[in-house]
Amino acid sequence: MTKFLLIYKLEHDKFFLKASFILIVTDILNCNQSEEVFSAAQELMPGGVSSPVRAFKSVGGNPIVFDRVKGPFAWDIDGNRYIDYIGSWGPAICGHAHPEVITALQEAIEKGTSFGAPCVLENKLAEMVIDAVPSVEMVRFVNSGTEACMAVLRLMRAFTGRDKVIKFDGCYHGHADMFLVKAGSGVATLGLPDSPGVPRTTTANTLTAPYNDLEAVKKLFSENPDAISGVILEPIVGNAGFITPEPGFLEGLRELTTENGSLLVFDEVMTGFRISYGGAQEKFGVTPDLTTLGKVIGGGLPVGAYGGKKEIMSMISPSGPVYQAGTLSGNPLAMTAGIKTLELLKQEGTYEKLDAITSRLIEGIIQAAENNSIAITGGNVSAMFGFFLCNGPVRNFDEAKTNDAELFGKLHREMLKRGIYLAPSPFEAGFTSLAHSEEEIDKTIEAFDQSFNAIKN
Ligand SMILES: Cc1ncc(COP(=O)(O)O)c(C=O)c1O
Repeated sequence: MTKFLLIYKLEHDKFFLKASFILIVTDILNCNQSEEVFSAAQELMPGGVSSPVRAFKSVGGNPIVFDRVKGPFAWDIDGNRYIDYIGSWGPAICGHAHPEVITALQEAIEKGTSFGAPCVLENKLAEMVIDAVPSVEMVRFVNSGTEACMAVLRLMRAFTGRDKVIKFDGCYHGHADMFLVKAGSGVATLGLPDSPGVPRTTTANTLTAPYNDLEAVKKLFSENPDAISGVILEPIVGNAGFITPEPGFLEGLRELTTENGSLLVFDEVMTGFRISYGGAQEKFGVTPDLTTLGKVIGGGLPVGAYGGKKEIMSMISPSGPVYQAGTLSGNPLAMTAGIKTLELLKQEGTYEKLDAITSRLIEGIIQAAENNSIAITGGNVSAMFGFFLCNGPVRNFDEAKTNDAELFGKLHREMLKRGIYLAPSPFEAGFTSLAHSEEEIDKTIEAFDQSFNAIKN
């Protein structure tokens, strides 16, 4: 149950004595059932979760157990409602459980859940992806972003005949061995520099550079002549918190990879169909050789994909020798949710709306922090946003780590009390959806204002 306290506040402006009422939410959420279920879960599953970022390790407390989601909202099993800015970590860009996606799925399920054989829906989603994403001439569907990145790496090596790959500190490309080096997000949140079980011989081929640092990439190329298969990156980082590419960075990588006979790969698992219909590559006008996709293209069901030039993609089995397969890949339910989601996103004005809502949100958050004299830097591109509790700019993962983690933890807890569900880590981006209206955004900003007020010293 939520209690409200009205506090009469007197403060000096430059010239005036200002009087105001502040509404403070005082209680702790009633999450008894969540606590019970999570406590049982910890005996059943490692850490009580199916994926580490769902735990609240870096913000304190226990995760909330969800009962259902709809539009911009999530309800926990104790009946509390939250405005959700995680959106299932990206897929819910049209809003949770969009009625058209649900209806399409209900119709599709009547025909069966998995064929293990070609289906016409795969052609349809493939055509949509190829039409939308500039670099993609041919696509292979898989079941997750991790699978897509893992497969693209094998393809990069096979096509170039080279073993090394360059990735950036704080970029996450799923949990395949070779990518678990300076992998941001969950790995950073849990303070694991690397993961046990990843052979050193594997990661020896993974070279890393700070994001937004072209000189460091140049140096790696000159130190490893004819050995680097390619450069893979998040064209806008979401897994080290929200970090944008500086002007010239993506263009510079395009030139460097071409000069060195290497491939440029954009991991658009997070940015694909979120930043614009054609992804970050369309937004920034830089076309990579290969692209990985996930999240939004599955519309909430498990889908990943990788695609690129026909010449490269034709090396994939069975048209070429590079083996990659999947029992449930391209299954009709996942394809249906993806198709319907892309149809909704393709409508006129979608991305303008997403951008307007998200800009309103981040501007409000920054203003709220400033009102309370809390250092903040942040921004958004379309429906992806983020902020760090430190002075900006933040251009790479090292700078992201200057964020005040303790303060973020307190902020996270205060926001939860006020019914706002933010990613439980400062090293994650936030996501809005077409279902977030100005009303929810303004309520969220008000909650930020109150929360900043509650946590400031
Ligand atoms: C940029 C990026 N690549 C790859 C992945 C891995 O995707 P999945 O969790 O579907 O395996 C993620 C997941 O968050 C991601 O953000």
